[in-house]
Amino acid sequence: MKKYCTTEEAAEYLGVSTARVRQYIQEERLTSEKSGRDHLIDYVALYDFASNGRRKIGRPFKKDSHSSNGLHDQSVTAVEAPDSVAQENGPTVINGDTREVIKRLPENTFRCVITSPPYWGVRDYGVADQIGAEPDLNDYIHSLVEVFSEVRRVLKPDGTFWLNIGNTYTSGGRKWRQADAKNKGRAMSYRPPTPEGLKKKDLIGVAWMVAMACQQEGWYLRNDIIWHKPNCQPESVRDRLTVAHEYLFMFSKSERYFFNQDAIREAYSNGNGMKNKRTVWSINTEPCPEAHFAVFPRNLVRPCVLAGSEEGDAVLDPFYGAGTVGMVAQELNRKCTGIEINDGYVDIARKRTSKIQGSFMFQES
Ligand SMILES: C[S@@+](CC[C@H](N)C(=O)[O-])C[C@H]1O[C@@H](n2cnc3c(N)ncnc32)[C@H](O)[C@@H]1O
Repeated sequence: MKKYCTTEEAAEYLGVSTARVRQYIQEERLTSEKSGRDHLIDYVALYDFASNGRRKIGRPFKKDSHSSNGLHDQSVTAVEAPDSVAQENGPTVINGDTREVIKRLPENTFRCVITSPPYWGVRDYGVADQIGAEPDLNDYIHSLVEVFSEVRRVLKPDGTFWLNIGNTYTSGGRKWRQADAKNKGRAMSYRPPTPEGLKKKDLIGVAWMVAMACQQEGWYLRNDIIWHKPNCQPESVRDRLTVAHEYLFMFSKSERYFFNQDAIREAYSNGNGMKNKRTVWSINTEPCPEAHFAVFPRNLVRPCVLAGSEEGDAVLDPFYGAGTVGMVAQELNRKCTGIEINDGYVDIARKRTSKIQGSFMFQES
């Protein structure tokens, strides 16, 4: 069954006036049907239009052979999209709560999803509905698994999902957190209560809890990659080691899936040829002068994009932040959609991706 929205709803979704939407219809750039004095716009074509830089399309969203109807959750309508704007020369960025926004994306769309969600109780992203500020650990895990189950729906059957997530410790009884050394305003000012069954000072293992919950939910867990940070933040701890790594989990939607091993092979240290990439990646963190929080480095994202997709494929980041995935996708000629709740970060992401010129993805096809 097709799903339609009105010109007003389409205007809100695209962030333009209704007159502009009528113009798109007149130019046959947007598929619509006449209904009384108004037009009803094919909602999937609208999404396609937004995702492809408002190029001339006039065709419905391409159905995947595995897709039942090529549509997404029918209960959520376009009018709920707060702000979805395809940059003229960059990725589509959708400003909103990813739990709601992702439900509106069509199933079996993205070849590869790469993301780094907020960690539990660590950083304050300054928005009421942010994930990561739940007092109860189970609520945090539940929120992420809910989003990742939608990620599985929008991923193509042969797609992969790359999840970067770090572990955290219980508070040790303190209700407050020391200020972020790099950015005093951004650390979560309180520490969540110690989860039931854990003790003061316990390493929570939340990264693995999320990974296991995803596995239970149906994902194939294929790799746990250690992101080793040679330039990690020093810690003033006296009774444990300084943490210098995070996890990057690779999941697949199906038992067999697309994986370009050749694109990420690495050289043997003695120079004698190439070998499969290993599961420990030593990559320095990369500062982002525009953003107020730690973005993940492009060198962490590149192998995921290269192994998980081909040129022209669509990549998604449901926790887009300052748009690092968009930058790498542009550089490697992939389309990208990002979802981000904080409109300030949306602006930063747009600026960062608008600096890269000559992107393949907005050429007419
Ligand atoms: C770790 S940061 C992502 C950084 C990103 N990988 C980069 O390199 O810029 C997590 C992001 O998730 C966003 N976020 C938190 N809750 C969200 C929600 N409910 N919906 C969408 N985004 C959310 C935060 O605002 C933050 O920008």
